[in-house]
Amino acid sequence: MSEPTKKSMDEIMALCKRRGFVFQASEIYGGLNGFWDYGPLGAQLKKNLRDAWWADCVLNPPAAPGGGDVAMVGLDTCIIQHPKVWEASGHVAGFNDPMVDCRESKKRYRADHLWVRSATGLDGQVFLVCLAAGGAEEANDAWGAMKRRKDVPGPIWDLLVQASGTDRAYTDLSPEQRAAVLGPDASKPGSLTDPRPFNLMFPTIVGATGDWETNKAYLRPETAQGIFVNFKNVVDTSRVRVPFGIAQTGKAFRNEVTPRNFTFRSREFEQMEIEFFCRPEDAREWYVYWRDNRLAWWRSLGLASDNLRLREHDADELAHYAKEGAGTSDIEYRFPFTFPGFGELEGVSHRSDFDLRQHQQHSGVKMDYFDQERNERYIPHVIEPSAGLDRGVLALLCEAYTPDPERASKVYMKFHPRIAPIKAAVFPLVNKDGMPEVAERLRNDLRARFSMIEYDAKQSIGKRYARMDEAGCPFCFTIDGETLTDNSVTVRDRDTLSQERIALDAVVGYLADRLGSAR
Ligand code: GAP
Repeated sequence: MSEPTKKSMDEIMALCKRRGFVFQASEIYGGLNGFWDYGPLGAQLKKNLRDAWWADCVLNPPAAPGGGDVAMVGLDTCIIQHPKVWEASGHVAGFNDPMVDCRESKKRYRADHLWVRSATGLDGQVFLVCLAAGGAEEANDAWGAMKRRKDVPGPIWDLLVQASGTDRAYTDLSPEQRAAVLGPDASKPGSLTDPRPFNLMFPTIVGATGDWETNKAYLRPETAQGIFVNFKNVVDTSRVRVPFGIAQTGKAFRNEVTPRNFTFRSREFEQMEIEFFCRPEDAREWYVYWRDNRLAWWRSLGLASDNLRLREHDADELAHYAKEGAGTSDIEYRFPFTFPGFGELEGVSHRSDFDLRQHQQHSGVKMDYFDQERNERYIPHVIEPSAGLDRGVLALLCEAYTPDPERASKVYMKFHPRIAPIKAAVFPLVNKDGMPEVAERLRNDLRARFSMIEYDAKQSIGKRYARMDEAGCPFCFTIDGETLTDNSVTVRDRDTLSQERIALDAVVGYLADRLGSAR
């Protein structure tokens, strides 16, 4: 297996801007930290990923363990729910990140993202700090950036150069040790405050009175709770019986302390979540089912390299609802900014009966389920595969980005045909001699069947191929002089660059074979 190489995040972001995948939100006003807009190609890529998830998880889920159908239904719930939903779920009291302020630079950090390395200074031990995005694995990179800083006074820079030892979490330091920490953007040690909890939910006001106390509500920080509070409605109105799952996609909002790494940690993002309700004793079997199928699904969309991994959580990482559960794991991708480490793409957790029980207690409405087969009542346990749609798009963009100095475009986007935003392009070789008419007819036939078909008659054929390579279009069909005599077209494959001639009336079938269920 070849060694993984680190791609340049700056180049990927530049391509995303240049080709209309992702724009900074409110860019003409200087942008808003943690918010991103999707351009024409990005919006289609994101829709394709969302549609593929819905098709494979809701409409046609993988067969059950031991064979048979898996029952799944969809839902679309409100972003703003009754504020008591978030009290019951534990978000009002506990959805906090530890936050640290720098009194000198006025910057704010997540305390659990600060990693400290020690060095012996002029007057004893001095602790120095570096900022790591996701954990100790990235501390080395951040440490390198720290050493390249120009604003650090000489004596402190001397310490930086000779600093060594094991990285330690800022949160593990004593108050005396914290007083000796040099902040990532400070020039003198001791400017960082103690960590304090910061609630990540975005508050808002419902109604016209503008009273924060009586009318306060929240933008949802996860789509999951909309599913739990509708559990009874779904059971009472559809024919599902435990085990079954409810799925939904939608926006979630978190006032992240330090949004960073492009769309990876945003303040507004989209989730694709499943709450799968099962008998408590079957939780382990369904956990394994979802964990393995979700990993296989990401692989099937082109994250097939060793950039994707499954990581089971250690006991001390488990969330409050996952105690003594059937398991919790993350599906992780090796993003360029986490390289050589990994970042979370999707979590699969056994949430036990925590959420339904909490809502039963806070609402007074019974959330138990009558199992007719067994003639008994219980609160079902839940397996939750919770994926980030924006993180999925980002992983697909990073994976697809393929530098190739031999090509006119110097880079191409190797999207899996199923999620590629442009499925095919149609070119008339020249914009005359009856070729545009045939090309337009073919374009119309393809548009009636497939989602995004490009027509391009501008500039040389080489430039048109280059444009499609950068957009990640897998197939280009060219109408030329021969087409007019023998009804054949050239099809060019983005990845192999091979060209072959096929019959004009075989193009729809050719594309359908290669796109599978994607349209
Ligand atoms: N209902 C469970 C839940 O929300 P989570 O691990 O907090 O779990 C699930 O979020 C997924 O949502 C993550 O795996 C990630 O893909 C995505 N996600 C979470 N916070 C995000 C953020 N600030 N920006 C982008 N995606 C995020």
